[in-house]
Amino acid sequence: MYVKYLTILEESGAGDRCGNICENNCENNCENCHGEMYDFRELDDIIMQAKLIKGNLIIILQEAQRIYGYLPREVINRISERTEHTTAEIYGVATFYAHHRLKPIGKHLIMLCQGTACHVSGAQQIEKAIKDELEIEDGETTEDMLFTLNNVACLGCCSLAPVMMIKTGEEEETYGNLTPERTLEIINGLRHLEEQEPENEKEAV
Ligand code: FES
Repeated sequence: MYVKYLTILEESGAGDRCGNICENNCENNCENCHGEMYDFRELDDIIMQAKLIKGNLIIILQEAQRIYGYLPREVINRISERTEHTTAEIYGVATFYAHHRLKPIGKHLIMLCQGTACHVSGAQQIEKAIKDELEIEDGETTEDMLFTLNNVACLGCCSLAPVMMIKTGEEEETYGNLTPERTLEIINGLRHLEEQEPENEKEAV
């Protein structure tokens, strides 16, 4: 996820705290930042470019979600400040389209296909297995922020039905011909890797 807490600001002294980033020159916990600093540089560039395009708000929201993983309030406020759209309008568009997320997602986003081919090939059993294992519903994230489950429309590889795609950062992996058992193996494999990660980091030091 690309939310960036700018440690550099702590070294930069009062008054300069976020001068380079949000241009508010504010002190700790300023009204705009609420203690969390977002790096708006890429977003600002996108807003500048999108201003020239009709229907730009949808493009800006898509890009903002790509950058931050979801649409935090601070990002919505930033878009409002830099465009002619009010926050109410932006929230209206953001909530109209199902693919926009207003809450953070887990490290691994499980996109489970519910298209026709997958549905008739057992997507419901796969969904039940995931929900039971992770104890979440569609659209929810596990408490440890590792997994989010999203039911989606056809992923475009119907011959492999039932299919899920797991997105981790910029990486996407597609898994086909799923069974409930195979699905749990995949999920638990990822979980196992996460558990191993601190060990690997220790060894690398
Ligand atoms: S219906 Fe699932 S990939 Fe097409």
